[in-house]
Amino acid sequence: MSSPLRLGVAGLGTVGAALLKLLDRQANALAERTGRRIAVMAVSARDRSKVRDLDLARFEWFSDPVALAGSPEIDVFVELIGGADGVARAAVEAALQEGKAVVTANKALLAKHGLHLGKLAESKGAALGFEASVAGGIPIIKTLRESLAGNSISRVYGILNGTCNYILSRMETEQLSFAQCLAEAQRLGYAEADPSFDIGGYDTAHKLAILTALAFGTEIAPDSIAVEGIEQITLADISAAAELGYRIKLLGVAARTAAGIEQRVHPTMVPRSSAIAQVMGVTNAVTIDADAVQELTLVGPGAGGMATASSVVADIADIARGLHVPPFGLPMASLTPPRRAALQTHEGGYYIRLSVYDRPGAAAAIATRMAERTISLESIVQRRRPGEQKGASAVPVILITHATSEKLIGEALKDVLADGFIAEPPQVIRIERE
Ligand code: NAP
Ligand code: HSE
Repeated sequence: MSSPLRLGVAGLGTVGAALLKLLDRQANALAERTGRRIAVMAVSARDRSKVRDLDLARFEWFSDPVALAGSPEIDVFVELIGGADGVARAAVEAALQEGKAVVTANKALLAKHGLHLGKLAESKGAALGFEASVAGGIPIIKTLRESLAGNSISRVYGILNGTCNYILSRMETEQLSFAQCLAEAQRLGYAEADPSFDIGGYDTAHKLAILTALAFGTEIAPDSIAVEGIEQITLADISAAAELGYRIKLLGVAARTAAGIEQRVHPTMVPRSSAIAQVMGVTNAVTIDADAVQELTLVGPGAGGMATASSVVADIADIARGLHVPPFGLPMASLTPPRRAALQTHEGGYYIRLSVYDRPGAAAAIATRMAERTISLESIVQRRRPGEQKGASAVPVILITHATSEKLIGEALKDVLADGFIAEPPQVIRIERE
């Protein structure tokens, strides 16, 4: 058997702690599968005195992850700290500078600095593994980079954030408030250190940026992504979606269109009968449309310590076996800047919830404004809040449109607002039909 592969693990939180346990549990199997023992030599975290359910006495302790990254005692630096900048970035750069392999679960770092880190890794002949950075335990990076090498990909989309899917699922099935569901997701270790990254859609955008680069051979461009989070989704929207035959999911979508590469993250109405609507809880799902394979969907746990550690171990095993592929599947110089398709060119159906003053002619005026922009309505429903008297206040009016453009919807809503029947800003949710 070859010499052991020596690891330095920085970050002993949800993922780091699970990784140490998984490496212990699978030590013999991994040695057999890769031909080398995987040996953790040293670890680093912020607070050495923290009580952890781990036997750390076996490992050298580094209070500085950058020093650990440069240690001659390790071959692979495993970064499980998080954050696009700061110590995580400094340590990853330090390891790559030394020509050491790096494995990370840090999508924020990859989305912001992936191009630079990929070039650095390439110039030093070092491996850069980030399977755990997208969709937790789902092997989506390897699938796009290696398994689909013979395909031309036209679209990649899916549920990429476990926290948001957990919140939306729990709100619907348990009728719990947004805040209660978020607190549960945090307690279960799904959420980011700053959960606004999850609920604001930015974590999904970081992951989508990585998938777009792999799918289309483009440079990572998180700033090209139109991002909306789930903070504004109410139980009323979730109930209305159910009644109308839809479910609300936070989707990340990257598609090659005539106008360029469209990248968007937003709450989306998906038909209740669709496969993606059945994906509940912390589960993620990624669908790839490609010419040879047609449609491929991977479904699995999108967050959580063990599921994510499984992906970290996959990268470590590749390094132990000596497998070395370009981080983004192409020489870094071959990645091209993406031609960005403006969101205004997006075409699809829309759910629009309006809070309308209960006056004669209001619904007719809204329908007229839509018709003036050639927007065809699939349905228009006016509701009364329970116990309310006619004319007492604003009532919800829900429109579902047939396919139209983002530009026309924006123009029509501007006219509707100008008519003075609307009490609150409209809630607009795009519809994605498979
Ligand atoms: P976490 O539970 O917050 O753990 C972060 C770890 O980093 C902690 O052990 C912390 O030390 C350590 N740390 C923070 N600042 C440090 C510093 N300056 N020096 C040394 N260590 C420092 O985070 P996590 O959920 O495990 O996530 C880690 C990474 O995996 C992130 O990039 C995250 O986006 C990614 N990820 C997470 C999941 C998930 O389900 N949680 C899934 C996929 C990817 P202390 O323990 O001493 O505080
Ligand atoms: N906070 C992330 C999520 C962790 O909820 O999906 C996995 O990347």
